[in-house]
Amino acid sequence: MSEQKSSRIGGFYKLSREERLDAVKDMAGLAQEDIDRLLSKESLPFDLADRLVENAVSSFGVPLGIATNLTVDERDVLVPMATEESSVIAAASNAARQCRDSGGFHTSLSATEMIAQIQILGLSDPWAGRAKILERKAEIEEICNGCDPMLVKLGGGFRDLEVRVLPSASGAMVITHIIVDTKDAMGANAVNTMAERLAPTLASWTGGRHHLRILSNLADRRLARARAVWPKEAIGGTEIVDAMLDAAEFAEVDPYRAATHNKGIMNGISAVALATGNDTRAIEAGAHAYAASSDAYRPLSHYEKTADGDLAGSIELPLSLGLVGGATKVHPMAQVCLKILGVQNVVEFSGIVAAVGLAQNFAALKALATVGIQKGHMTLHAQNVAIAAGAVGEEIAEVAAELARRGEVRGDVAETVVAEIRSKK
Ligand code: MEV
Repeated sequence: MSEQKSSRIGGFYKLSREERLDAVKDMAGLAQEDIDRLLSKESLPFDLADRLVENAVSSFGVPLGIATNLTVDERDVLVPMATEESSVIAAASNAARQCRDSGGFHTSLSATEMIAQIQILGLSDPWAGRAKILERKAEIEEICNGCDPMLVKLGGGFRDLEVRVLPSASGAMVITHIIVDTKDAMGANAVNTMAERLAPTLASWTGGRHHLRILSNLADRRLARARAVWPKEAIGGTEIVDAMLDAAEFAEVDPYRAATHNKGIMNGISAVALATGNDTRAIEAGAHAYAASSDAYRPLSHYEKTADGDLAGSIELPLSLGLVGGATKVHPMAQVCLKILGVQNVVEFSGIVAAVGLAQNFAALKALATVGIQKGHMTLHAQNVAIAAGAVGEEIAEVAAELARRGEVRGDVAETVVAEIRSKK
């Protein structure tokens, strides 16, 4: 059995870049070539960028950091996060530290299925059309599986069929959902190919006209869940538990707050998705659509007090993540990030990503319910303001400290401070 290494790396933020990479190399068992990739100036070679998108001229750098302290399903894991927002990575790491002693995060994934939709128009008898499609499930299965024998060989493929009749201004639409197990792939190509192949057949069976054939980003057959308990002692006592419950309740009753609450969750989720070359927009669309799928727009996470007075948090959202296919497979940095995560399959991967979302959300709620978020944000933000005002090298920290001391982290003040520092030299 391999030795279980700890993701609890105290003072990680104080280490030099090389020391941080040494710790990651050791924990994640990276090869020297992976470290060289992380150290390289060019994270995405131009010829690859030019093949990934049209009209490429360069690639756009985003900071890549490592969240520490996470235990997910009894395994310690370091999590790569790509984000331009300060405090996000520190917040996830802090939240994970505070639930380590109570077992960290526990997760599950409902299935690895995706949905593709086929729109049939022009039927005077849409309900009869629906029945005709449902009668031929076995043939539909054969057509879909015939599109992707490799997926079938890997244990995936067609799983189910749903047909809905939707009224619309231009007449009833018959909407067929094919439900496909895409296993470790996000599966957009697989299900879109199946939908395109199947659509003319559905049109001929029903006598209608086929129109759109595309996956749905409301991937509610791929629901990731995570839960954790934060002991009251670990987070500062009962008063803080209660304050956080009040904060969470605000999101339960108000969509204006729920949108911000969920944005905080996505700060973590999108950062891991981006670092691993996944489609961040698909995941964002799915999350918000799922949040709005009941009678109102709701928070994706919920908090309660346990019988012992601790804080129990849980999250559920669709995660259309992949470990194979798309940029995940070709982006060299995404490959290194997946090695750092050390996941064996998309079930494990989705659990970690859901856990990061919950950790992120816990951290935001705790800050908001206590000191507010500006305090944590200000150190790095002040440095950004200093850089934008023209500070370079050692000036950056000096200007940032002066802005914090004056309590005025603003561009105009930073420019004045830069000028003052330079005039003294
Ligand atoms: C900022 O990026 C995210 C927060 O607004 C999330 C929240 O309010 O819960 C802090």
